[in-house]
Amino acid sequence: MGRKEAMCAELGMYSEKYALPAETTQEELVALVEKLNCDDKIHGILVQLPLPDGLDEKAVINTINPEKDVDAFHPVNVGKIMIGDYDFVPCTPAGIMEMIDESGMEVEGKHCVVIGRSNIVGKPMSMLLLHKNGTVTICHSRTKNLKEITKTADILVAAVGRSHFVTADMVKEGAVVIDVGMNRLENGKLTGDVDFENVEPVAGAITPVPGGVGPMTISMLMKNTITA
Ligand code: GUN
Repeated sequence: MGRKEAMCAELGMYSEKYALPAETTQEELVALVEKLNCDDKIHGILVQLPLPDGLDEKAVINTINPEKDVDAFHPVNVGKIMIGDYDFVPCTPAGIMEMIDESGMEVEGKHCVVIGRSNIVGKPMSMLLLHKNGTVTICHSRTKNLKEITKTADILVAAVGRSHFVTADMVKEGAVVIDVGMNRLENGKLTGDVDFENVEPVAGAITPVPGGVGPMTISMLMKNTITA
């Protein structure tokens, strides 16, 4: 059983999982989403990304009823996040906001640096921090002088997808460091984007991988589903 299914079971929440074959066509996938859109037993729909090559991710997301879009990936929900009027919060950024809150770090007026500009993490993360009155800098693969920017971060969110990308010399003393990375090493070990061992002594608070952002993401998915 997957972790999402297991948490649904633990909460007593009804769930259906469709593990579709890789050769599923666009039409079949869209038809399934449309069926679930009309199913009163189902309040939330999550299409696990990335989809295999040949399937049109955007078209599939656009098919999800925005009221059942517990990932908040549909353009209607993305737009609502942009203007700060939203019911569904994208799960990974939502979990990160909970953890920042738990660290005791106030977001208001702080320099928040997000490394990564994906639609799933970087962009919505930046918006949530902005809504909390953070001063937000979005960095990405083309950013020049990255270290000079990250060094001034009170809150640093790493969503790069490269193991040990954030090193101790990039982090300000006392910063809150959030590691969104999920990198599978050749030996099968899961690591984040942050060099945890060396950054931990510098950081005021830091999230581990595994056991940090991941479990929070699933919790927020459950929360969105209850909202739905
Ligand atoms: N793939 C990686 N993260 C996510 C997520 O939050 N939602 C979905 N649907 N797919 C993902």
